[in-house]
Order: sequence, then structure tokens, then C-alpha cells
Amino acid sequence: MENTIICADVIEGLKKIPDGTVTLICSSPPYNLKIAYASAADDQPYLDYLKWLKEVFTECKRVLRKGGRLVINISAMTNRQSDKGEEYIRPVYVDLGVMMKSMGMKFFGEHIWYKSDKAPEPNSYGGGQFDGKKTAWGSYMSPSCPAVRRNHEYILVYSKDQFQLEKSPESGDPDITAAQFQLYIASTWSMQPETANIGNHPVPFCKELPHRCIMLYSYPNDIVLDPFNGVGTTTLMAYINGRRYIGIDMEQKYCDCALDRIRHNEYSEVFVPKQKPKKPTAEEFAAGEGCVLE
Ligand SMILES: C[S@@+](CC[C@H](N)C(=O)[O-])C[C@H]1O[C@@H](n2cnc3c(N)ncnc32)[C@H](O)[C@@H]1O
Repeated sequence: MENTIICADVIEGLKKIPDGTVTLICSSPPYNLKIAYASAADDQPYLDYLKWLKEVFTECKRVLRKGGRLVINISAMTNRQSDKGEEYIRPVYVDLGVMMKSMGMKFFGEHIWYKSDKAPEPNSYGGGQFDGKKTAWGSYMSPSCPAVRRNHEYILVYSKDQFQLEKSPESGDPDITAAQFQLYIASTWSMQPETANIGNHPVPFCKELPHRCIMLYSYPNDIVLDPFNGVGTTTLMAYINGRRYIGIDMEQKYCDCALDRIRHNEYSEVFVPKQKPKKPTAEEFAAGEGCVLE
């Protein structure tokens, strides 16, 4: 299974993917922060949320091949109001770390996404602080209870069974440039959050995030999966970078948008791929050679 957008519940969608076939999973699960997705609820009791994530990541582990990477972009915390009790802020990345260890996934490393106010410049760590619209200061100008304003997120990297990723018979030769490697290998990534309204999705990835993960952690032609694909930023960047892709999302209009972005071959202005992949013709799409919407 490859070059497919599956419109289904995440577990149901993952079950369609054969064991050990995916090289890279790059995804951002819902953060349980009451984000208004079109159909998905984002408001579970915290322990139910963790249990659900474990179910999802167990399926993810199954579909990964040996040495395959699971890259999870997660907020620094979740603070669902109604069941938080004494626990004011929950460091979900800590609980995820414990969960991954219990599942036997190997911790590979992490990148801190520093939310910059500028688009990245080639080979630069630059950019100032992205302020967004948040002004929740807590006790403003008083030490009584200032609220930390999180202008970063985590990108946690795990691997299955072993750290080394061998080329598969289908993999191409590494295609990352020296400049890209030297920038992407750093543990801090300064990237501007997506500001465009893409398919009315409340929180699409910036293109740079999956782009960096794909270039650093997979070979050309490998299969890249996003089980929470939304409007398909991961699948678009996989396509642009000459990888095969699978995306899953439960919302039909996000899946349509993901497919549309690939069809219109929406190239990023920031990244010029070394070789533009051939844009499939309408006939090729119809024959399922471009991408398929299930
Ligand atoms: C954080 S967003 C991912 C955004 C994505 N990275 C992008 O660039 O558009 C999470 C996505 O998970 C989807 N989702 C939430 N619960 C789901 C479920 N049970 N099954 C499938 N998709 C789900 C939502 O519809 C939402 O698009």
C-alpha cells in the first residue's frame, strides 16, 4: 500500500497497512487541547487520551520496518480544564517518553521546535519569537503565579528495534545536501508556524517540519506515513521529496484537501527539491498511479 490517502478512523486506517512496510512516520496527534477539528473530538479525560495514544502508537510500531523511525510532534503540555484537578499543567512529552519505553521503542533523539516569527533562511537558525495571539501571562509583572508562555514544541524521534536504518531494495541513495544535514541535525529547529488558512484546518503543520524529518530520517522512495494527516502537509512534502506516502485522517474534507495539494503539486517557495518529481497526468491519477483516495 502506498501513495494513498485513507479517510478513516486512525486505528481502522492503520490496520489496512501491512506489517513492517513503512520507513518513517511523521505526525502530530491531537493535543487534547479542545481544538475545533471538523469532526474529531479533542477533549478526552487525560488517562483515556494516553491510553488511546498507546493504541495508535502500538499500531504504528507494527507497520514500521526494522530501524524505521516514529517522529512525534507534540505540544510541551496539555491542560484540559475539566479533569486537571491539582495537576495544573501536564507535561505530555514526559508521559509519552514513559509510554514509548514500555512499548520497546528506542529513543533516538529530539528536536525542539522554536516557533519563530520568520520563515527560515537557508542555513540559518535565525528568526525572532513568534507571538501569535496569546497573552495569557498569569500574574502579569508579579512573581505570584506567572504563566510560562510556551513558544516551543517537541519533535520526539524513536526507532524500531535498532538505531540504524538500512536501505531497502526499493530505497534510493541518500539525497540530503551537506547544508541541509548540518542544519537539520541540530536539536533546535527555528521554524515559523503555518499562518495560511489551508483547507480550514485549525492547526496544519508548517511545510518545513515534515520536510526536515523526511530528508533527515528516510531514503528516497521510502514510504512515509502520517496517521493524523489533516490537510496533508506530510504527504505533500513526501511527494515533493520523492518518497511514497500514506496519510490517514477521519475528516473527509481534510483528506480531499490533502489529495488536492498533491494534485496541484503545491511546491514550497522555500525548498527547491533537487529533482522535481513528475506531475502525474489526469489519466495516471485516474489509473491510481498518482495517488488514491480511499
Ligand atoms: C494536529 S492535527 C494534524 C495536522 C496535520 N499535521 C496537517 O498538517 O494538517 C490532528 C488531525 O488528527 C485528526 N484526527 C483526530 N482524531 C482522529 C481519529 N480518531 N482518527 C483519524 N483522524 C483523527 C484530526 O481530524 C486532525 O486533522
